[in-house]
Amino acid sequence: MMKSASACKSVGILLVTTMLICAAHAQQNCRNPNQNTGYCLSIYDCPILIDLLQKSALTSDERNFLRESQCDNGFGRKPFVCCTQDKNYVGLPTATPTATTTTTTTRRPQPTPFIGGDDQGESLLPREPACGPSSFLDRIYNGNDTALDDFVWMALLEYRERTGKLVLNCGGSLINNRYVLTAAHCVIGKVTTDVGQLAKVRLGEYDISKDIDCVNGVCNKPVIEIDIEESIVHPQYDANSNDRHHDIALLRLSKPVELSAFLQPVCLPLASVRSVINPNEELVVSGWGRTLTSRQSNIKQRLEIPVADQDYCKKKFSTKNINLISSQLCVGGEFVRDSCDGDSGGPLMRNKNAWYLEGVVSFGNACGLEGWPGVYTRVSDYIDWIVSTVRA
Ligand code: ARG
Repeated sequence: MMKSASACKSVGILLVTTMLICAAHAQQNCRNPNQNTGYCLSIYDCPILIDLLQKSALTSDERNFLRESQCDNGFGRKPFVCCTQDKNYVGLPTATPTATTTTTTTRRPQPTPFIGGDDQGESLLPREPACGPSSFLDRIYNGNDTALDDFVWMALLEYRERTGKLVLNCGGSLINNRYVLTAAHCVIGKVTTDVGQLAKVRLGEYDISKDIDCVNGVCNKPVIEIDIEESIVHPQYDANSNDRHHDIALLRLSKPVELSAFLQPVCLPLASVRSVINPNEELVVSGWGRTLTSRQSNIKQRLEIPVADQDYCKKKFSTKNINLISSQLCVGGEFVRDSCDGDSGGPLMRNKNAWYLEGVVSFGNACGLEGWPGVYTRVSDYIDWIVSTVRA
């Protein structure tokens, strides 16, 4: 990613102090939906509920149990749950209506669903707060480096060169425990001859040059390298067209991945939660691609870029005989603030209560040229395709 130089001192000492203060407030007693007492913890520190969340098909009881397990004022990464040994209701899940006049209504609160929708595919896609968590360590940016736990859905795609060697090229985003969303041009077309065949997905990466990544004494887990069971390119993508319409693809992983604090899916702008993207709104792009000084960045980078005027962008690209359509989103266009080679397939994100995947890095006219926005596949226009393509 191209970026203008900026420096920011890390504040490790401040971070450690904050963690200690927070720890004192941690683990408050709470009651779970069965009225058993437990501790209000980050769900990531509650293996029994994390296991439940990762089941590919939850019963509605289990789903409700998870919802009602949410508690306030836990410690660590949201969502907080009242953690006990229970993973479902004991006894009858719903109080059967009785003829008695005295009713103690166990009112079920209705917080944000963990997993929602009745549609098969939609129920496989996470919703807030089970996706797009913000960084907990986010005071440790160094210039445009991300924090260790920023954008933990980011994937790196690995290609097999003719020599057999694996090389990194594109990016992608984990959208549930089984699928990575990327650009179609990262899967088929020129990439297969220029780079190689797409072979694997790497998840949980931060600094490519290190085996275990640690920042200010906090370390993440080793990366996960996983095979691709199926690559599904959008049926209307044409690898021979410079327009790059429908530049989007799904990669089905060979098995579900185990989520953790350092591996979470991003939220998708599903029909029920989506809102328009306005010109000048700042979105964030992230990747390990080309920077001003090197072909690849070791540390995951982030950059804020404003949404461009779409008509201006369409006119600009038409001078290069490129015909943009409304499902392509133009962002940026400022000198040296742009995504670049190697960032393709990676996420363009919007921060609401959680991070939403709004764009997939597609192409540009070189990188970081004043007046030339980058072009991104507009994810909200492909939700129906994603929903109808993913399966358990
Ligand atoms: N096509 C590039 C890739 O394959 C992405 C370039 C994005 N370019 C831009 N100027 N925003 O990695």
